[in-house]
Amino acid sequence: MKICTIVGARPQFIKASAVSRVIDATDEIEEILVHTGQHYDANMSDVFFEELKLRRPNYNLDIGGGPHGQMTGQQLIRIEEVLIDEQPDVVLVYGDTNSTLAGALAAAKLHVPVAHVEAGLRSFNRRMPEEINRILTDHVSEWLFAPTQFAMDMLENEGLGDRKLHLVGDVMYDVALEIAASRAQRNNPRAVLGLDDAPMVLATIHRQENTDDPARLEEIFGALIELTDRYTVVIPLHPRLKGARKDTIDALSGAARLHFTDPLGFGLLADLVADADLVVTDSGGLQKEAFFHRTKCVTVRDETEWQELVENGWNRLPTSIARPAILEAVELQMAANPAEGFEPYGDGASARKIVGLLTQAI
Ligand code: UD1
Repeated sequence: MKICTIVGARPQFIKASAVSRVIDATDEIEEILVHTGQHYDANMSDVFFEELKLRRPNYNLDIGGGPHGQMTGQQLIRIEEVLIDEQPDVVLVYGDTNSTLAGALAAAKLHVPVAHVEAGLRSFNRRMPEEINRILTDHVSEWLFAPTQFAMDMLENEGLGDRKLHLVGDVMYDVALEIAASRAQRNNPRAVLGLDDAPMVLATIHRQENTDDPARLEEIFGALIELTDRYTVVIPLHPRLKGARKDTIDALSGAARLHFTDPLGFGLLADLVADADLVVTDSGGLQKEAFFHRTKCVTVRDETEWQELVENGWNRLPTSIARPAILEAVELQMAANPAEGFEPYGDGASARKIVGLLTQAI
C-alpha cells in the first residue's frame, strides 16, 4: 500500500510525526511525504522535522505566503502533479489548513481515497478559513478519523455516517505523552528563556480573526500588558502576529515581565506549557496541549472546537474580546479547579489505530 501524506503547517508536522513513526514500523506501507511549504521558516518547519525525527519530505513544493486563494490554488496544482506521478492508494491529510484542503481536493478529483485525521471538528464560524477547510475536507474524504465523540456526532449529523468513520482519539495526545515522558532529558524551560520563578502566563496569538483586526488585537494586547502587573507573560511570536504588529511589538519589547520569543521548538514549548500557571491562546492545538499537560487555559476567541474542555473547566472563553472581559476570564480561570480524571482524547494510541485501520483495508 502506498500512502501519500500531505503536510504544510507546524501542527501537521507534529501530528504526522506520530503516524509516520508507526508507518515506518509497518512493512506493508510505503509513505511518500509531501511538504507544501506553507510554513517555511526554520523555526516554523525544520525544527520540527529534526526534533520529532520526521523523515525529510520526498517533495517540497515551496508554496507559502500569499492570499488564501493563491496559496491553496498553487498547492492544488502541484499536489495534483505529484499524485499523478506517485499513484498512491490513499492520501493522508491532517487538520484544517490550506494544505489540508488542497491535498484533499487534488486527491478526490483524481479518485484517490482521502483519509482525514482530526475529522469532524466544528467551530460553527464560517468566517474562519479553518472552518471552511475542515468542512470541505471532511466531505470529500472516504476515511474520517475523529478525535472525539463530539466530532463523531458532527460527522453523523452532516450525513457522513456511511463513510469509513472511526473514533480513534487524538494523535496530538500520543505526541504529548511522548514529549512529557522525555522531559527530564531537557533543560528547565525557565532557565532556557532566562525567566525567574514568578507566576507565568504563556500566550500565543496567530488567528487571522485576531491578528488582522486592529481593534481586537488592541484589546488582547491591552489585557496581556495589564497581566504583567501580576505575572510574567511569555509570548512566542507567530510570523502572522509579528507581521501584523511589528511596531507595537518593537515598542513593547524590553517591557518588564513581557517576554517575546521567536517560535519555540516542540519540547521547549511543551515544557513551558507544563510549567505555566495559565495558557492564553487563540490556537486550536494549544488549548488541548494545555490540558494534556494539566495547565488551565483561556481561549481568546468567540468559540472553540474543543467544547469538552470548557464543560470540564480546563478552558474558558471570555464573555467578549474586550480587555476587562479577558482579564476577568484570566482571574476566574486562575482560581478554577477543573475536573480531574476525564480523558476525552483517547488513550495515546491514536496513530496505531489509524495505521491499523488503513492496513486492514489492503
Ligand atoms: C495556519 C493555518 C492554521 C493553523 C496555523 C498553525 C490556514 C488557513 N491556517 O495559519 O489553521 O492553526 O497555520 O500555525 O491554513 N509565515 C512566515 N513564515 C512561516 C510561515 C508563515 O513568515 O514559516 C507568514 C506567511 O507568509 C503569512 C503569515 O505568516 O503571511 C501567516 O501564515 P499562514 O500559513 O497563511 O497562516 P497561519 O496563520 O500560520
